[in-house]
Amino acid sequence: MDISQIFKNNQNWVQNKLDLDPNYFKELSEGQNPEILYIGCSDSRVTAEELMGVPPGYAFIHRNIANMVPTIDLSSQSVIDYAVMHLKVNHVVVCGHYYCGGVKAAMQSADLGLLNPWLRSIRDVYRLHRKELNAIEDEEEKYKRLVELNVQEQCINVIKTSEVQRAYRDRGITVHGWVFDIHSGKLIDLKIDFRKILEEIMEIYRLS
Ligand code: CO
Repeated sequence: MDISQIFKNNQNWVQNKLDLDPNYFKELSEGQNPEILYIGCSDSRVTAEELMGVPPGYAFIHRNIANMVPTIDLSSQSVIDYAVMHLKVNHVVVCGHYYCGGVKAAMQSADLGLLNPWLRSIRDVYRLHRKELNAIEDEEEKYKRLVELNVQEQCINVIKTSEVQRAYRDRGITVHGWVFDIHSGKLIDLKIDFRKILEEIMEIYRLS
């Protein structure tokens, strides 16, 4: 693809928006008030706004390899702090996807250099759920289940933060775990029992 095409696309996009609403960008520049924080994978096939069908301004977005929320990752932790404490989102979504290269890499015995510590957190998810995963014989099914369990564990990491615990107490913020199935295009709600998980983990992770 000719990279200059992107600027042509942008011009067309601006014109289309202005044709529908001459004040579109003026209003967009006045500020943001997003309803949700979306934490997803950097995978080029898994867009955020497009798959949710939401316009700019609706979702605050953070993407990294395999939609991780590691405890000492300053980037994702800052995003959670800003979205929850300042933008006051009412929903936090962790969205994984089947056929995730990051999750697949974590299941293989390969030294991937700088990626090792990042992917190690996914191996930790495997270790936590080893019994269930080892019982799945079909490799693809096992891989899909690890994607789901990783989403669940990253939701738990979100709940461990003081920001989310406080926002739950003050305004009933909700944490959701979703999986995007690239094969069908469908978004699947894992229906994570947020309140039950929160009650269980608060025994150990309560911060106030
Ligand atoms: Co991925």
